[in-house]
Amino acid sequence: MPDFIELGTATTASRTKVLFLGAGELGKEVVLELQRFGVEVVACDRYANAPGMQVAHRSHVFPMLDGDRLRAVIEEEKPDLIVPEIAAIATDTLLALEAEGHHVIPTARAARLTMDREGIRRLAAEKLGLKTSPYRFAETEDEFRGAVEAIGLPCVVKPIMSSSGKGQSTVKTPKDVAEAWALAREGARGGAGKVIVEGFIDFDYEITLLTVRHADGAGGTKTSFCEPVGHRQVDGDYHESWQPQPMSPLARQRAEEMAAKVTGDVGGRGVFGVEMFVKGDEVWFSEVSPRPHDTGMVTMITQDLSEFALHARAILGLPIPSIHLHGPGASYVVLGEGTSQSPRFRVDGAPLLAEDTALRLFGKPEVAGHRRLGVGLARGSTLDDARAKAKAVAAGVHVILE
Ligand SMILES: Nc1ncnc2c1ncn2[C@@H]1O[C@H](COP(=O)(O)OP(=O)(O)O)[C@@H](O)[C@H]1O
Ligand SMILES: [Mg+2]
Repeated sequence: MPDFIELGTATTASRTKVLFLGAGELGKEVVLELQRFGVEVVACDRYANAPGMQVAHRSHVFPMLDGDRLRAVIEEEKPDLIVPEIAAIATDTLLALEAEGHHVIPTARAARLTMDREGIRRLAAEKLGLKTSPYRFAETEDEFRGAVEAIGLPCVVKPIMSSSGKGQSTVKTPKDVAEAWALAREGARGGAGKVIVEGFIDFDYEITLLTVRHADGAGGTKTSFCEPVGHRQVDGDYHESWQPQPMSPLARQRAEEMAAKVTGDVGGRGVFGVEMFVKGDEVWFSEVSPRPHDTGMVTMITQDLSEFALHARAILGLPIPSIHLHGPGASYVVLGEGTSQSPRFRVDGAPLLAEDTALRLFGKPEVAGHRRLGVGLARGSTLDDARAKAKAVAAGVHVILE
């Protein structure tokens, strides 16, 4: 029996309403895709004019960790779907709202489990038996020293509540231990908290396996995979990604099995970014985001349906027949460093004269410190060609902060 999906019309009594918690550059792209289905979109973030708000019908400004404000906005808006775009959300409130009949994407439990590194790591390693780096958690400096000793050097230290490499460091020698502890405490979202100490994996390459759980058109749910995305991180922050990352058939099979297992346990529908480390045929699960992934921005130029279009289709309950890769492609980030309330960009047109290139500027209205402001995209005859073109596009953008 085929599924029938009913969609309404934005701004009218029949509206299908989707509410975003977090409205950065990734949310913005999903909002744009939903707009194409005539969906009414409400974007929420902690600051006004966040990228996703600029393309939504309405917005609300409040801290996503404030459960009372979150509940008040949901009760006022009564959305059909609640879409978390970031990890740091009042997930207890989401669990309660789901129990009251609200629909959280992919599930409130997914938001809860991936809110910090501990929930998802324990699920993957201890419940599902996926191969991960060895790890320990620590709450005090004494425990931390014990954990480093148990794991051995080199090891990677991260606050359990952080993203984009904040508070993360690698301990290579005993003299790095004290600094790693201090850094992890400072970098933790919301101040002090637990840290994870992980054995350092000397991988050949790392991937994001974009995994989509979507309607199969016959009343059930199906899991589809994008071609693996390879990426390069600098201090735990993504700088460059490319697709398809070549993998041995066995590594590919293992990666897909792991991704299917973890996303299957988490459940619901939508795109998941499953991060893994690969060495030869060996694959380690690292982490998963139950939403489109920053390294997946490359799919805006490589795939017929980008990860954002896939997310929109999946969460609306529409089927996905196949995911077509046009050819090798790459993304390269445009970073800004400084302070400004009105960033400007001097764009060199020359790299954009190359075929199959694109530039996205996110429209972030303020910069304070280090911020990702855009991305250069390209397809090429080979991965190297695509990477060079994407890098040239990004390098041609001069960020002016004053
Ligand atoms: N155990 C590890 N061994 C080697 N490299 C690691 C390890 N953990 C993290 N990294 C590197 O740091 C990056 C960021 O770490 P990750 O756990 O993904 O944090 P975030 O949530 O900030 O993305 C990874 O993509 C990888 O390059
Ligand atoms: Mg990561």
